[in-house]
Formats: sequence, C-alpha cells, structure tokens
Amino acid sequence: MSKLFVVSNRVIQDGVREGGEGGLTTAVWSMLKDLHGSWIGWSGSVSDDESVQLKMASGVAIYTTDMSDRAYEKNYCGFANACLWPLFHERLDLVRYDESDFSSYMDYNRRIAMVLSELAQPEDLIWVHDYHFLPLAQICRDLGMNQRIGFFLHTPFPPPSVISALPNHWQSMKTLLSYSLVGVQSGFDAENLQSYLRQQSDGNKASEPLVAAFPISIDTRGVISSALACTGSSDFGSETKRSSVRIFSADRMDYSKGFINRILAYDQFLSKRSDPCPDIQYCLVAPDSRENISEYRNHKSEVMLLLLEVQQRWRDDYENCIEMINQPVAPEPLLAMMRASQVGFIAPLRDGMNLVAKEYIAAQNPVDPGVLIVSKFCGAGRELPRAGLIAVNPHDISEMARALEEAVVMPRTERVRRHRLLMSHLLEYDVKWWARSYLKSLQAESCLSMSDTSVTV
Ligand code: ADP
Ligand code: G6P
Repeated sequence: MSKLFVVSNRVIQDGVREGGEGGLTTAVWSMLKDLHGSWIGWSGSVSDDESVQLKMASGVAIYTTDMSDRAYEKNYCGFANACLWPLFHERLDLVRYDESDFSSYMDYNRRIAMVLSELAQPEDLIWVHDYHFLPLAQICRDLGMNQRIGFFLHTPFPPPSVISALPNHWQSMKTLLSYSLVGVQSGFDAENLQSYLRQQSDGNKASEPLVAAFPISIDTRGVISSALACTGSSDFGSETKRSSVRIFSADRMDYSKGFINRILAYDQFLSKRSDPCPDIQYCLVAPDSRENISEYRNHKSEVMLLLLEVQQRWRDDYENCIEMINQPVAPEPLLAMMRASQVGFIAPLRDGMNLVAKEYIAAQNPVDPGVLIVSKFCGAGRELPRAGLIAVNPHDISEMARALEEAVVMPRTERVRRHRLLMSHLLEYDVKWWARSYLKSLQAESCLSMSDTSVTV
C-alpha cells in the first residue's frame, strides 16, 4: 500500500495550530488529518543538529529537522524569502539576489531530499509544497528516486517579464521540469507559468510538465461548526451586531498584504461618512512574520506609524476607531471575531489565494452575514463568484473607501443573497476537493508508468 509524503518548509508543530503559520499549513494539516500521510519539514529551530525527529499527531507522521544558522540566514531569510517571495509577489524593488544565498538554498534542498529518499518507498506518492523547494524533484531524480513527485505553488506565479528579472531565473525555474505535475492557484498563474516555460524552451512542448490550476481551499464544514461553537466567545462583538460597525482583517504582517492601502482607505471612508456612527472600529489582526528580514521590519514600522496617525486624527470623534492586534490569535477566537464583524476587508496587493477571505465567509451567521471586500489580485478574488463579493483594486484607495461604505450600509436581504452564493461555492470546492483533485491528477499521470500507486483520496 503506497503512502503520501508531503514536504513543506513550515509544518504544524505537534499537530497544534497556534495561528499565524500561514495558509499552506492550514490547508495541508486539514488534508493530512484526512488522508493520514507523512509530513516532512522544518522544526522551526536553528541549530547544527541534522537529526530527524518524528512526532505522531492525529494519525499524521510529522518528521522535522533543524536548520543550520547559515541555512536559516541564506536559504530561509535569503533566497526563499528575500528573493523568490518578493519576485513571485511582483515586488522587484525588494528582490535581493545573492549567489551564496542560492547555493545555500540548493544545499538545504539536497538535505531535505536525502531525508525524503530515506523515508519514501518506491510505490509512495510525493507532494512538494511551495517556493522553498523548486529544485527538490530534480535533486531526488539525481538520487535515483523514480516516484511520482508533484509540486504546488502557494504564491502567485507572475508574468514572464517579471520572472526574467531574476538574474538566475532559468537556472532556478527549469528545475520545475522534473515534477510530474505543477499545481498553481488560478488559471492566471497557470498561463503565466506555461508561457514562461514555453518562452524558455523555445516552444518545445515536450519538455513542459503538466501545469494546472487547483485553487486551494478551507475545511468549509469544519470552519462553519467551529465558528458556530464559539459564537459569543469573542469580546469583539456578539451575534447582534448591527448597533455597531466592525470591520475586520487578519493577515501575517507581510508587505504583500496591502496594510498601508487598507488603512488609508479606512481613513478616507471615515472622512467621507455623512452619517457618523460613533461605535465604529476597524480591527486588524496582524502577527509578525519573518521579523529577521529587514524588509519585513521596515514595513511593520511604516504600518505602525500610519496606524498611530489615523488613531490620532480620529481620537476626538471615536473612542477606538482602529486597532491592531500584533500577535497570532488561535483559530477559534479568530473565527469568532470574523463572525462578529460586518465587513471582512481582505485586500492583498498580490496573494496566491488568501484563505482568510474564504474563512471569513464560512464563519458568518447565514441569517445576518457580513460582507466580503476582496482584492482582485488574489486567488480568492479571481475564484469566488463575483456577484457574491465586492471586488476591489487594492491600489485604488478611493475605490476601497467606497467599498467599505457600500458594505456597511448593505441591506440584510442582499447580504444573505451574496452569502448563499459564496457558501454554495465553498461547500463544493473545499480543501478535500482541492487535495483529491490534485492527487487524482498526479495519480492519473502516474498510472502511465506506475499502475500500482494508489493513495486513497
Ligand atoms: P498566508 O498563507 O499568506 O499567510 P492565507 O490567508 O492564505 O495567507 O492564510 C493565512 C492562514 O493563517 C489562515 O488560515 C488564517 O486563519 C491564519 N491567520 C491569518 N492571520 C492570523 C492571525 N492574526 N492569527 C492567527 N491566524 C491567522
Ligand atoms: C505563506 C507561504 C508559506 C509559508 C507561510 C508562512 O503562506 O506560502 O509557504 O509557510 O506564508 O510563512 P513562514 O515564512 O512563517 O513559513
């Protein structure tokens, strides 16, 4: 019987979600609890200890290993998060390319490939996640591994002209050709990747891996029941929320998330309100992320400064019109906050999917739901039915300010109609759908050469 091995840099330590680990772990954890596979990744610790630790949680075997000081600095804080991350989010101004970072990135990939080669049997299925591991399959092939190896990119894949700005772009990206299937979040990302690969391989289709969009999703039924179970447990508000106005955002403190523009839009929304509501509040839950990377620290300072300015501007009119919780919140209280707010304001500048947008919808009370404002430049904004949301350009402050006004005055019947539309989509396309459809495609490919591989999906 074959097993499923998932590789990602971040894993859920001890099987407990603390909050703020990001969407990859949220989705992979939901999937693995269901499929009972194995998960390989970073322990979160920095040391020279190369041993592999195994912990069992909810039927999932979680294998972790530490990262050396050098790998942390040059691989994680360097090539992965100061080069590939800004590149994939179209922030060329922030891309820092350094050859020695790339070589550390390759070394770390070799180390994880060795761990994988010792654990995976020939009949197993391997699913590698995210930009930390572009070359993993190629290294596995060099080690003589013949398993079917799939890849999924959680970030956007930008247009070829952006990718080409990376000094060693083809050296980095051609490694994707060793995967049997490359999954991305949307048709937009798939088109960009395919056209980049075509351009680089002179239109030689034979060398292209199978590229397809599999929009990642949430455990919709699980979110509904958790949100229901914690109704009333949030001091942020209660089920009867119409006497006050609560606008809500939750995202890692990352420059791709568009915090500055969201705060500016909220400020403009307040200044344009003809009907002041004294009990209005915008709450941003934004835990620190990648704080050892200077671009993240600079971005946080900028956000905090703007927040203070807006707080001071409105302090005579409102008691506490904008608040930031700069720390992770555990999943249940976070859902309770979502449920107690009238508006989910999710406006990343670029984002692979943004699972918070989906969680916000699933957390709502169906008879008095909130309204989702979502960026057009994230997977959720591209995938969810447009008629159910208010889609905005996250660079257009005035449009976002108008969207906030539209959302807070929207009649209940219209909110219910929109919510139903979004929910029927999320119930059908949930995280199980995502995992099954991806793994079926990977297996279908594998059937051509490995008919005995059958992970139950
Ligand atoms: P990303 O993967 O870039 O962080 P997503 O929106 O796809 O963005 O996923 C974020 C995940 O982390 C979601 O499951 C969300 O519930 C969780 N999350 C986001 N913000 C917070 C927070 N402040 N505290 C705890 N969990 C959070
Ligand atoms: C995004 C990335 C993930 C990453 C997560 C949290 O979701 O796609 O790969 O794990 O952010 O970032 P971190 O650097 O803390 O793992």
